[in-house]
Amino acid sequence: MSLKESIDLTRLPNHIAIIMDGNGRWAKKHGHIRTIGHQHGVKPVREVSEACAELGVKHVTLYAFSTENWNRPIEEVNALMELLVLTINAEIPTLQKNNIKLNAFGDLSKLPENCRKQLNDAIEITSSNSRMTLHLALSYSSRWEIMDAAKKFAKDCISNNISPEAIDEKLFSSFLATKNIPDPELMIRTSGEYRISNFLLWQIAYSELYFTQTLWPDFDRNELYNAILDYQKRERRFGKTSEQLTQTT
Ligand code: FPP
Repeated sequence: MSLKESIDLTRLPNHIAIIMDGNGRWAKKHGHIRTIGHQHGVKPVREVSEACAELGVKHVTLYAFSTENWNRPIEEVNALMELLVLTINAEIPTLQKNNIKLNAFGDLSKLPENCRKQLNDAIEITSSNSRMTLHLALSYSSRWEIMDAAKKFAKDCISNNISPEAIDEKLFSSFLATKNIPDPELMIRTSGEYRISNFLLWQIAYSELYFTQTLWPDFDRNELYNAILDYQKRERRFGKTSEQLTQTT
């Protein structure tokens, strides 16, 4: 039986979030400059998106550019922005063919004008696709998102006279940039780093975490299937006991 066939399609994660790490190290290993590593990071983006859509995963979120990435050398930032524009443009037919909707969240006002325009165009063109949504976290960090939500929430509390007692998780999360996206059941990080790096901290409260040594440019369908199979072996208890989970009431 192939890896793909071993996956229980009735117990798929609805949302998979991925920290695509290791492009720089992949480039170094192959004697290239860092930006070549980013270029080789595009193929797994396509492969993972197609594989998830085929399986029936409904949401995939990719950490494409963090708030902290703005501090990289300007040449690398520019190369990444250019790559994003080119890739988004080039991938529209693949998104259409696979019925995938594109979305983006983060401090998008910081993106260069041409990048924002290309992104908005692709979001608009793919807006009626319904098989899966591919979310790009761009100029994103979790602390930025939570602070931004807190500011918006505080303003709303003042103008609508909301009492502190009325505040709950549901109300607060309605101010997050990710407000309409279900929490990920599975988060994957490549390249052997065991960190979350300011990604979806609020949303991963109960997510299963999967780490692989594979550098992002080498990540492929089989790696994805392995991550899903590992997820399916785990018991998700949400703070309950195993016995409570097996009770059928
Ligand atoms: C992390 O590797 C990767 C990034 C900061 C950029 C990810 C971008 C892509 C894969 C390009 C295409 C993406 C889309 C969504 C169109 P790193 O540079 O931190 O690697 P290192 O830790 O080895 O230095």
